[in-house]
Amino acid sequence: RTESIPELLDRLCAVVPDYPVPGVSFKDLTPVFADAQGLRRVVDAIVEPFVGTFDVVAGLEARGFVLAAAAAYATGTGMLTIRKKGKLPRPVHSEDYALEYGTATLELHRDDVPPGTRVLILDDVLATGGTVGSAVRLVERVGCPVAGIGVVLELEGLNGRRHLTDHLVHALQKV
Ligand code: PRP
Repeated sequence: RTESIPELLDRLCAVVPDYPVPGVSFKDLTPVFADAQGLRRVVDAIVEPFVGTFDVVAGLEARGFVLAAAAAYATGTGMLTIRKKGKLPRPVHSEDYALEYGTATLELHRDDVPPGTRVLILDDVLATGGTVGSAVRLVERVGCPVAGIGVVLELEGLNGRRHLTDHLVHALQKV
């Protein structure tokens, strides 16, 4: 029998107690990415519901880049890098989002893809949804429709989907 994706994630994901702060149990996907089968199966599963509905895959810095680059290569599409503030060299759109204390900003080049390009957004974890929410706004500001959102892990208790009610959100595992 082929191991299910949740079984694979349970086997390979590292759980780090009290990181980054006491009381938080951090789900570290780096061993999943480091495993040949883990990377391939996670990437294939995350794009599966969206195949044929997108023209480019957007990855969110930093761990979303791993997924998006692999997914773009696997599906014969291109990749967009949505980056933390100040990293992109040409004119950008910027969108702020809330952190536990303060705010952060994501940016996207204004002209990396033409308006109308259908964008699949990928990231490793959906927590509060602030990060993906700002990515959705950036994609829409460059005139592109969001084909969907894929994440490996969804931390259900934080209700990140409340920011994303207009879009199909596909999570490989809810924790
Ligand atoms: C983490 C994670 C997601 C985001 C989820 O990234 O990789 O991008 O937080 O949180 P949210 O749903 O509450 O916004 P982080 O900001 O730690 O950046 P990194 O990947 O560059 O370490």
